[in-house]
Formats: sequence, C-alpha cells, structure tokens
Amino acid sequence: MPPTILAIESSCDETSASVIQQGKVLNNVIASQNVHQKYGGVVPELASRAHQQNIYMVVNESIQRAGIDTANIDAIAFTRGPGLMGSLLVGVSFAKGMALALGVPLIEVNHMEAHVLAHFIDDPVPTFPFLCLTVSGGHTQLVLVDDFLKMTVIGETRDDAVGEAFDKTAKMLGLPYPGGPLIDKFAQLGNPNAFSFGHTSVPGLDFSFSGIKTGVLYFLRDQKKIDHNFIEKNLNDICASVQFQLVKMLMAKLKAAVRQTGIQQIAIAGGVAANSGLRKALMGIAQKEKWVTYLPKPEYCTDNAAMIAMAAHYKYLASRFSAFDIAPIANLAIGS
Ligand code: KG4
Ligand code: ZN
Repeated sequence: MPPTILAIESSCDETSASVIQQGKVLNNVIASQNVHQKYGGVVPELASRAHQQNIYMVVNESIQRAGIDTANIDAIAFTRGPGLMGSLLVGVSFAKGMALALGVPLIEVNHMEAHVLAHFIDDPVPTFPFLCLTVSGGHTQLVLVDDFLKMTVIGETRDDAVGEAFDKTAKMLGLPYPGGPLIDKFAQLGNPNAFSFGHTSVPGLDFSFSGIKTGVLYFLRDQKKIDHNFIEKNLNDICASVQFQLVKMLMAKLKAAVRQTGIQQIAIAGGVAANSGLRKALMGIAQKEKWVTYLPKPEYCTDNAAMIAMAAHYKYLASRFSAFDIAPIANLAIGS
C-alpha cells in the first residue's frame, strides 16, 4: 500500500512541511525567514532559532491542510544534509520526536537529491537517464540521474555556488538578501550586453564563480571612481549583464555534459532554476539542439518540503529507513 509520509525541510532559511499520500504531494507549507535580509546573507544562529519558533506551526498546518489524522502517517521524513548544522538539528530532532510518538519509521533525505526529485511532483516527469543542472545558494552541480535513488555528480563548482554569485553581486549593488530574485527582476529591464566582467574558468564539467564575483567587485569599484552614482544610474544594465554572463557559464557546461554523455533529457533544479533568464536560455538552446527539457514550478525550485516528501516516497518503497541515532551531516554528498 503506497504510504502517507510527513516530510520536514529545515536545511537553510525556510521551515517547510509537506504531506505526500500515494505519491501525490498534498501540500507544501513554507515559512520563510525575513531576519536575514539586512545582513546580506543567512545568519546561522538566527536561522536555527527561527526554525525552532516556526516548526510546530508549519508541521501542524501541513497536517491540517492534508485533512489527515496523525494516526494515518506511515513515516516521518527529514533533511539530513547538506545544510547549516543548527538548522538541520531542529528538523531532525522534531522528526525523531514525532516518529517516536507515532511509532513509525524515520526516513533521511539528502537535500540535493531531493532538489532533483522535485521533478517527479508534477507531470511531465523526466525519463531515465537524464541530466540535472542543480543550481542553488550553496551548490552548483551537474547530476547524471539513472534512477530515483541512483544519481552521480559529474561536475560541480570548485568554489562559490552560482546562487552565491547572484546574492553577493546583489549585496554589492546594495540590494537585500536574497538578491537573486531581485537581480532577475531588474535584469528584465536592462541590456545584457551593456557590460562584461572578468571571470575564471576551469576545465571539464566543473564550474568556478569566485572569479566573476571579484570581476564585478573591481568593475564597480573602478566605475564608482569615475561616477559616484554609477550603480543607481545603471542598475538594470548591471543586473542584466551579470545574469547574462552567469547563465552563459552554466549553459556552456550543460552543453559539454550533453556532448560527453549523449543524454538529451535535461532538467534544472534548485533556487536559481527559478531565474527567468536561465529558463529562457535553456528553452532557446533546447529548441536548437533538440533537447527535451524539464523545468519545475518556481515553488519547487527554491527550498521546500514537497521535494523532501517526494524523495522520501521512493525511499519508503525501497524500504530505506533510518536508525534513531542518526545525526545531520552539514556537507552530506549525493549518493552517500
Ligand atoms: O535552493 P535554494 O532555495 O536554497 C539552497 O539550497 O541554497 O536556493 C536559494 C538561492 C539563493 O541564492 C537565491 O538568490 C537564488 O536561489 N534564487 C534566484 C532566484 N530565485 C532564487 N537566483 C536568481 N534568480 C531567481 N529568480
Ligand atoms: Zn536547496
């Protein structure tokens, strides 16, 4: 009998819960944390405290909205990592408490595998094998997906994640955290070819985004020496140019991965997959190269418990449960 699972996500700065029944996601309750805005990035101590305050309410709302009784829950799933240790601990501990109280098994989920499996929440779902470009605030990975629970990282960033490059650029422009969605918004009004920035490149399928971050920093420093109001006058063009260059770097590696593997089923996942420039660029290339593409709804790109629930569903079917002495792992790798 396909299970009913309650899933909890608390790896970074979203507290989220979701109920999945017979493989269908019933809801995806998310409490975002605004406390980080003025700091230009997630403050771990504040994140874990906010999770602690929100988690009961979020889980309760998810159960209420699903219209189920807790007695119907067959397993409790949680994000084991990667993520911030203090944030993960809140979710893991809450999940253990619930599973013990209800007498049901625990299911650990790898956050990065869940980003990939978000593609199975809604139709059309990808067919195996497919390639997934997972782009988030902490990761940038090219993943070869052979099955629900069989995936391999074939390329990843050697330094910063692309989401970090978006957020750090936004910070330099005086925009609040998270800046990625704001860069996306302003970029839509700007000229992508207005400026170009220095960057580093690495061979093979790996990425590097630390160079472009420094490139933007030096570019803005030099322009501000000439015109103090350079950013205010050129915000849209700066955003459009940075976004264009970041998307171009991502697409170059994706094309290389297609050449190397011969796989033309392409998915994107993670917070940056919500970026309109990336989505448009992917559609354009896909049409030319005859790729079949899968783009999840934006609410399933950024952190959410629905993707944890989806991953947990497949783990339940494979009887992959976790022991109660399990602890979170901040840098948990795919496939471990
Ligand atoms: O997957 P996610 O919600 O959390 C992590 O696992 O890191 O990704 C968050 C990242 C942030 O860097 C945020 O700025 C970026 O995704 N992001 C975007 C957009 N929406 C979210 N970046 C560019 N354009 C967007 N529309
Ligand atoms: Zn994420």
